[in-house]
Amino acid sequence: MAVELQSLTDNARKTSIEVLNALVADGIAVSRALKQAHWNVKGPGFIGFHELLDSVKEHVDAGIDEMAERVQQLDGTAIGTVRDVAKATSLKPYPTDMVKLNDHAKAVAELLRDYGGKLRDGIDTTDEAGDPNTADIITAASNEVDKDTWFVSSYLG
Ligand SMILES: [Fe+2]
Repeated sequence: MAVELQSLTDNARKTSIEVLNALVADGIAVSRALKQAHWNVKGPGFIGFHELLDSVKEHVDAGIDEMAERVQQLDGTAIGTVRDVAKATSLKPYPTDMVKLNDHAKAVAELLRDYGGKLRDGIDTTDEAGDPNTADIITAASNEVDKDTWFVSSYLG
């Protein structure tokens, strides 16, 4: 049965579902890249950075979960399989030939900055479409990403 949230227009609902699924795809791409870095990073400062990546991933995953569940509230279908994500994400692929901490820190910081930008665009789009609650959920995810961008960037000196 349809949830049919009160006073939400069909256009707002459709826009939000589209934006949320695009961000879920980007979020999952970020989440997997964080593990790629977590597993392969080597060098001085390893343990702190290795552990930081898992804490960033936890925050990113929590944001993805909230966004995917908002899709349900809007009567949509959340799309999060690896195959669909690979097709849907607009973020740059994470390099698989890196080892050095500095290279990973640079790449992860850039990825988080790009994802943060997509989230900010999503806040504007859903807000303008008339769904401030979805904009709020994306804002919460965005706040975490901004904070973690700072944490990761601090490794770059
Ligand atoms: Fe681990």
